Amino acid sequence: MKLSLRFRPSLGAVRSDGASQDGRSRAVALWLAGVALLVFAMIVVGGATRLTDSGLSITEWRPVTGAVPPLSDAGWAAEFEKYRRIPEYRYVNAGMSLAEFKTIFWWEWGHRFLGRIIGLAFAAPFLVFLAARRIPRGLVGRCWLLLGLGGLQGAVGWWMVSSGLSERVDVAPERLTVHLGLALVLLGALVWTALDAWRGPAKGAGRGAPVGAYGLFALVFVQCLLGGLVAGNDAGRVYTDWPLMSGRLFPAEYAHADGLWRTVTHSLAAVQLHHRLTGYLLFVVGWAFLAFTVRRTGRALNDSAAILAVVVTGQMLLGVVTLISAAPVGLGILHQAGAVLTFAAATVLAWTARRNPGRDEVLATAWTERRGSAKGAADTMLGAAT
Ligand code: HEM
Repeated sequence: MKLSLRFRPSLGAVRSDGASQDGRSRAVALWLAGVALLVFAMIVVGGATRLTDSGLSITEWRPVTGAVPPLSDAGWAAEFEKYRRIPEYRYVNAGMSLAEFKTIFWWEWGHRFLGRIIGLAFAAPFLVFLAARRIPRGLVGRCWLLLGLGGLQGAVGWWMVSSGLSERVDVAPERLTVHLGLALVLLGALVWTALDAWRGPAKGAGRGAPVGAYGLFALVFVQCLLGGLVAGNDAGRVYTDWPLMSGRLFPAEYAHADGLWRTVTHSLAAVQLHHRLTGYLLFVVGWAFLAFTVRRTGRALNDSAAILAVVVTGQMLLGVVTLISAAPVGLGILHQAGAVLTFAAATVLAWTARRNPGRDEVLATAWTERRGSAKGAADTMLGAAT
């Protein structure tokens, strides 16, 4: 097939069949960034749904027909009746009015509806870009993976909700943490792929990537999972003194009687202590990493490291305020949104580190180029003289 090249300033060089010639597409990048913003909103609405105790108000999983809320009084009565059969109603909300039920219903319905919107906002442009061959070749597989992850997240959401419908009065903390973790993986993959689409394939990728940036990224992720365990256990509403916990450095009720796994996932004292300590560790490591990069790497990496250090500091302070106020809804949502921003900043840092050569490599390249251009100039002069 014969290909002619056209150049579109805003979209990069494209071939006549629409595919990106230089492996980048600004349109694809903007689409992925838009979906990442929707996922950000989704995580925040998910936090609000949890904090308002609304998550168990819809007791069925109907991916398609569930998009339509009850439209008549009889429909509402039937929906409410299903909720009245689960333990949360019987043991926590007995006597709740229909109007109160509607409030918690709309939160959960809104969360699920946003999930459906995200599915559409991803899938429809994906098919169009695919048909027009506008997705850079190296990113097509990744986009399919993102689509699969989105579907999996819907199923994990239901797996989480179902854990609170028969024996418990809330969802299992481990499942809530998996749901939050997968949401972050999705967000991170979207941000990473959007950046790749914007900038094109890495040249000499990975050579100068400081392992520290990946370590920092992993630590932020782990800290978010630990936060999920605090939230899932409602452990932000106990031990609200700070910096001690019930007046002690190491809380007396740390260990769970049922062993290590239960301690790590269900002991209120343990999940909170782990989250506190990892928060302080992140603060120290974040600033130490910045001090390290300032002397050794290029500007882009320094900027990303500085942004992360500042965001981590704000998030840590916000965590302390959330804790000493016993996690009210507003602060809980803010802390959740801050966590997502921190994770996004860590993703950008890791991506930049993978792209950016270290300072030694930058100097070596500049030196080689200078030698090359000096030799070129000398050749030209010699050529003119002969
Ligand atoms: C520095 C980085 C931090 C990150 C990335 C982070 C992240 C998170 C995340 C993801 C959650 C779960 C939110 C949810 O699922 O609703 C959470 C919850 C929580 N975090 Fe942090 N956190 C950090 C630091 C701290 C610190 C230092 C404290 C206190 C000393 C703290 C206190 C809390 C509390 C009390 C909750 C429960 C809030 C709720 O029930 O909604 N966090 N955190």
